[in-house]
Amino acid sequence: MAIQWFPGHMAKARREVTEQLKLVDCVFELVDARIPYSSRNPMIDEVIKDKPRVVLLNKMDMANLQETAKWENFFREKGYVPVLIDSKQGKNLDKVIRAAEEVTKEKFERMKQKGLRPRAIRAMIVGIPNVGKSTLINRLAKKTIAKTGNMPGVTKKQQWIKVGKSLELLDTPGILWPKFEDQLVGKKLSLTGAIKDSIVHLDEVAIYGVQFMQQHDLQKLNQHYNIQVESDTPYIEVFDAIGRSRGLKARGNEIDYEAVVEVIIREIRNNKINRYTFDIKSEMNEDNE
Ligand code: G4P
Repeated sequence: MAIQWFPGHMAKARREVTEQLKLVDCVFELVDARIPYSSRNPMIDEVIKDKPRVVLLNKMDMANLQETAKWENFFREKGYVPVLIDSKQGKNLDKVIRAAEEVTKEKFERMKQKGLRPRAIRAMIVGIPNVGKSTLINRLAKKTIAKTGNMPGVTKKQQWIKVGKSLELLDTPGILWPKFEDQLVGKKLSLTGAIKDSIVHLDEVAIYGVQFMQQHDLQKLNQHYNIQVESDTPYIEVFDAIGRSRGLKARGNEIDYEAVVEVIIREIRNNKINRYTFDIKSEMNEDNE
């Protein structure tokens, strides 16, 4: 999905999410488990404010689970309930429901004390493009396909999807913009397929990818491409080695660097080499939200 975000789009997205938030008891903030910091909207806390929040670390099947555990702790310490999920396979969806119950417990107890009739928890999904919002909604919807009626008082007709007995989910997710400012974040978003190729320099993305593997997974890098490089081998020599090993030559027997870049990015994105988490907690600032 090629969305270029302009200030007007951002303001509109924020307005829409703010409207939707009025309808729900809690929010599912969906992030990519491979980049739990880089795949968050930069203003997420200002948008969601103190609405109870479950942070869903999606695509767990593609992430390095040791790193993911550190991010789970980080989100827990922030006061959110984190849940690791794989929306494609439908893994851990029962935990999503339990987490929604946990974060809304106090509110529902208060309602009960006031003598209000018990009702299902209302929730919505929020996240940047391509983190898997539609996949998750479809997965949850499949559990019980029945849709309930429209909510009065909203401009857009919102449908509620029943998920089990205790949860109702808005059928349209809140789509917010990704972080733009930071170049490194941009490369990580590209490497995980979250942003379009045209807005980043692919050669820089491939360089970042190769250097990441040199630092964190050298043996696998060598094994996968059948090459012999060291952690400090200049990237151009790594590209040469991969090009030679894969027979990626242009006219005149030169290495076809464009093809090398393409191969590296595609194989990292599709998890052909290993499961990677690019946001490494210990290498990041304490204050990154
Ligand atoms: P969005 O609504 O947030 O924009 O994201 P969407 O659901 O369209 O998902 C974006 C891509 O991420 C899709 O792949 C989807 O299949 C994939 N995806 C979503 N959740 C998971 C997950 O938990 N694990 C894995 N491995 N992939 C996930 P696509 O290549 O665009 O489509 P397709 O090839 O799956 O058809």
